[in-house]
Amino acid sequence: MRPKIAAGNWKMNGTQSALDELDALAGMLPGGSTQVVICPPAPLLIPAVARAGGIAIGAQDCHAAEKGAHTGDISAAMVADSGATHVILGHSERRVDHGESDADVSAKVDAAWAAGLTAILCLGESEADRVAGRTLDVIGAQLAGSLPDAARTENTVVAYEPIWAIGTGKVPTLEQIIEVHDFLRAALIDRFGAEMGDAIPLLYGGSVKADNAATIFEAENVDGALVGGASLKASDFAPIVAALAVS
Ligand code: 13P
Repeated sequence: MRPKIAAGNWKMNGTQSALDELDALAGMLPGGSTQVVICPPAPLLIPAVARAGGIAIGAQDCHAAEKGAHTGDISAAMVADSGATHVILGHSERRVDHGESDADVSAKVDAAWAAGLTAILCLGESEADRVAGRTLDVIGAQLAGSLPDAARTENTVVAYEPIWAIGTGKVPTLEQIIEVHDFLRAALIDRFGAEMGDAIPLLYGGSVKADNAATIFEAENVDGALVGGASLKASDFAPIVAALAVS
């Protein structure tokens, strides 16, 4: 049985007053075994941990190096020291805005694991890739290149986020989601063996909202969601968590 995970990526949104939403969310959660992870901007990690209750806190990035002259970056150890337990790595906004390659992302994932964090590794094709029929090739190459061999079930989550679905309100069809998630499951089993390959949670991300979440969670290999815009308000995110809990 894979864990169900509802993760919220606040991106570059929210100052300290946004932490009121964490309190509100904690009061709306359905209970049970569904894991909820909120990834606020870095300055909010420590106060978020202090107020998170049963909600896990994650960062949105970390540097691959342990420490040193990297102005503006934060290390995986700093993330772990804040009390956060997760870190999103390889998000398309980092791959595109900051030119992160698969090799860069892979090094960050290794650093996250070394610090005891769970990596939420993001993969996703562009609209041009999708139109050209290259989706599975792109996803397969990203998985091979950005997930290190030392992956373990306990510290690895993979999120499929088609770039064209992020923040656009465009959602792939359920068939398209199933195709990619089944492909990822097969690739993980091929690489890590049946037991581990079957145990790594796969999240879908890209315009997940309260009104489409239940449909997306019908897919056998969708174990949860990585949510951007709809994670900012507890009243938007709680119904997504509830849909996952009953899926
Ligand atoms: P939206 O839910 O706003 O489309 O963002 C998805 C995302 O990028 C989460 O990491």
